[in-house]
Amino acid sequence: MRTAAAGGGRRRYKSLTTLRRVRPRCLLLLFLIAICVPVIFFNYTTISYLLRPIWDSPPKPFQIIPHYYAENVSMEHLCQLHGWSLRKKPPRRVFDAVIFSNEIDLLEIRVQELMPYVTKFLVLESNTTFTGKRKALILKNNIQRFSFIRDKLTHLFFAGQTLQRWEDPFVNEDLQRTAMDQGLLAAGIADGDLVIMADADEIPSAHTIRLLQSCDGFPPIMHLQLRNYLYSYEFYVDFNSWRSTVHIFKQNVTLYRHDRVTDNMLADAGWHCSFCFRYISDFMFKMQAYSHADRVRHSSYLNPVRIQEIICQGRDLFNMLPEAFSFKDLIAKMGSVPRSFSGVHLPMYLLKNPQKFSFLLPGNCIRETPV
Ligand SMILES: *[C@@H]1O[C@H](CO)[C@@H](O)[C@H](O)[C@H]1NC(C)=O
Ligand SMILES: *[C@@H]1O[C@H](CO)[C@@H](O)[C@H](O)[C@H]1NC(C)=O
Ligand SMILES: *[C@@H]1O[C@H](CO)[C@@H](O)[C@H](O)[C@H]1NC(C)=O
Repeated sequence: MRTAAAGGGRRRYKSLTTLRRVRPRCLLLLFLIAICVPVIFFNYTTISYLLRPIWDSPPKPFQIIPHYYAENVSMEHLCQLHGWSLRKKPPRRVFDAVIFSNEIDLLEIRVQELMPYVTKFLVLESNTTFTGKRKALILKNNIQRFSFIRDKLTHLFFAGQTLQRWEDPFVNEDLQRTAMDQGLLAAGIADGDLVIMADADEIPSAHTIRLLQSCDGFPPIMHLQLRNYLYSYEFYVDFNSWRSTVHIFKQNVTLYRHDRVTDNMLADAGWHCSFCFRYISDFMFKMQAYSHADRVRHSSYLNPVRIQEIICQGRDLFNMLPEAFSFKDLIAKMGSVPRSFSGVHLPMYLLKNPQKFSFLLPGNCIRETPV
């Protein structure tokens, strides 16, 4: 019965005029295009992230060097555990070369963590963002917070360029790296010293730097694998922060970099806390200053109430999908970052001053109001 009815329908359909047959299809097609083009246009990034497992492949894996540490294990024994040897000469001098934007609290935690081992902190600050927007000199204006380390800290001012719309922000990034190379030479760095190259929010752990200044025999350039956190040390994301590096300095060879330079990576060497700010206004600044400022697709993204909610939920500020190279991984990473209740193995100065930095500790997602 059903077959016969369907057959009848088909016959009737065939008898329609060509015009009437084509027009609804055309209209449907036009309708679909009219819907799809804006959808694709406005969600281009979302769609490309969703399909990343198809069009992109993961970067070449790192050669991960196991890293060991426990309290009260002798330095000689620690060096040997890594397959290295204890230095006969005095400990290496260490230069911490940091590109600073507005992470003033994390910079203080960093300096306190590394102070006993670092010869000189070089902190480069620009009067523009990478994207060329004017920026206040936040470190310069807060330099009294660092008076405890006045002799060791050099504030390098970088005169940023305002960019035309078509100019690439990486121009500024490049020039800043060159300025840092000159800053290192001016600070008296010499062959054999250790240089840390990192953003202010990428903090190596003190024991790692002590190890590297006390042992011989490790690769002259290593990436540092850092634990990734978002908004505070409450939201532990993953283990995959890799951009920071340590170098045994060699004149005319060592250049400031913040991208992939070698396959070697020392495991579990510290903490990378992204968007770990005290005030909502700092989030708003960073969202617009970021190399990926185009991710602010709606002005509502900058609404302080929305930002506060997202911080407490561990969600993404830009409503972006996670960067994943397989669909399994993509699904696993989607949604909120789960809350962590661990404050074990965090930067020393943070745990010594829980009131001062409460917004960085588990259970304190509400941000402060500037006084
Ligand atoms: C580490 O060694 C010191 C001195 O030898 C000792 O006082 C301290 O209790 C030890 N700490 C641990 C955690 O074993
Ligand atoms: C940054 O500082 C330099 C040197 O003082 C100045 O020439 C330039 O105009 C400043 N840029 C902005 C955006 O204020
Ligand atoms: C580094 O390069 C400069 C200029 O090219 C040169 O004068 C200097 O001797 C070089 N230093 C070393 C250690 O090769």
